[in-house]
Amino acid sequence: MKGLVFTELLEMAEAAVGEEVVDEVLDGLELETGGAYSSVGSYPCSELFAIVGALSEKTGMSGEALQVAFGHWMFDRFVVGYPAFFESKRSALEMLDAIEGEVHVEVRKLYPDAELPRFETEWLGEDALQMDYRSPRPLMAFCRGLVEACVKHFEQPMDIEEHASEQVEGHGARFVIRRAA
Ligand code: HEM
Repeated sequence: MKGLVFTELLEMAEAAVGEEVVDEVLDGLELETGGAYSSVGSYPCSELFAIVGALSEKTGMSGEALQVAFGHWMFDRFVVGYPAFFESKRSALEMLDAIEGEVHVEVRKLYPDAELPRFETEWLGEDALQMDYRSPRPLMAFCRGLVEACVKHFEQPMDIEEHASEQVEGHGARFVIRRAA
């Protein structure tokens, strides 16, 4: 997992609970990296889950709620860092439909070692998109946060359904994003 994900998670946590508390959390974990991440490096995903687990214990927020909040945070960072992707889209549905075939394709070019999920999308008419998430990593709630933030960004009300999906290997979820009536 790219260091960027770690540095952003720690920045979000510092903004919420302060640097001292975050340092305490990191000190309490036995991390191979010692909790020092460079945004261009790559680190084991297990460390991300360990940090989320420890932050969850410290703050009383569930791991799932933390992942959702982190999805919102990360989306806002992406909008600032890579505005061109967003400016060319007319709606959240168009944006979400372009993640697999456009956005993450560029991410792979920039970072050949990126560990990305797979998305399969299907339009259910003009006003709804079905988006199947699949990953070796259980980041469904992070994905939900990104999807929610994307809907918020385009300022058109949408309903978001999330369904668990059984996978033979790895983790999955089906999101249906529908323009609100
Ligand atoms: C709403 C739009 C987006 C969704 C739903 C989405 C979804 C995800 C998810 C769920 C992950 C976690 C990896 C996994 O689950 O296996 C991920 C990772 C990542 N995404 Fe996206 N993404 C979006 C937009 C973007 C944008 C705009 C960028 C940057 C231009 C981006 C760059 C990345 C990077 C760098 C990673 C980390 C890869 C790694 O750790 O190795 N994503 N994305």
